[in-house]
Amino acid sequence: MLVIAIDGPAGSGKSTVAREVAARLGLDYLDTGAMYRAVTFAAIRRGIDPEDAELVAELCRNLTLEVAETVSVDGVDATIEIRSPEVTRAVSTVAANPAVRRELVERQREWAAAHGGGVVEGRDIGSVVFPDAPVKVYLTADDAERALRRSREMLELHYDQVAADIARRDHADSNRPVAPLGVAEDAVALDTTDRPVEAVVDEVLRLVADRS
Ligand code: DC
Repeated sequence: MLVIAIDGPAGSGKSTVAREVAARLGLDYLDTGAMYRAVTFAAIRRGIDPEDAELVAELCRNLTLEVAETVSVDGVDATIEIRSPEVTRAVSTVAANPAVRRELVERQREWAAAHGGGVVEGRDIGSVVFPDAPVKVYLTADDAERALRRSREMLELHYDQVAADIARRDHADSNRPVAPLGVAEDAVALDTTDRPVEAVVDEVLRLVADRS
């Protein structure tokens, strides 16, 4: 089973690179951040406080999630809503919930088994979810560049708001006790700041050819 793990902070280019690598190799692609966002969306929609760890954990265990080109939560299409500023603000709290992580990590492993491997992007894919993945990439980019990329996607938000949000999430995601964002020991770190997507994709494909 070939799993390619792509980790890194918001705006590092993970999704763009992971999708392209998957397309070039004919593999399926899983965005695990969308899963944490979907649980956060479901909690908000049901009036559950994201800080209420027990209620959110129970909600998560019972949630029907489909994450592919579109994201559906209990049969409701939430592709757009999971990217809202409201969900983005609360997602780090949900992602720090150990019971939520246990449940979603299990679903991520089931997904890979059912799909015969794939390109999986997130924060802890190489370190926790698939520690034996033959290819692990950690993407980074300068803070200002990451904020610029995200603010081009979030047209309703001002650059300063996006930059502050990314800094807050970086801090929360890197300092939580369970599965913090970090570079796995055997991951290859690539800085995407001044590099075109194609160059980064080619480098990941070279790693795949070398290591698998
Ligand atoms: O990649 P993203 O910005 O859509 O991820 C949303 C949040 O989910 C992010 O703040 C951290 C969390 N996350 C995580 O903790 N572990 C993952 N494997 C993926 C995302």
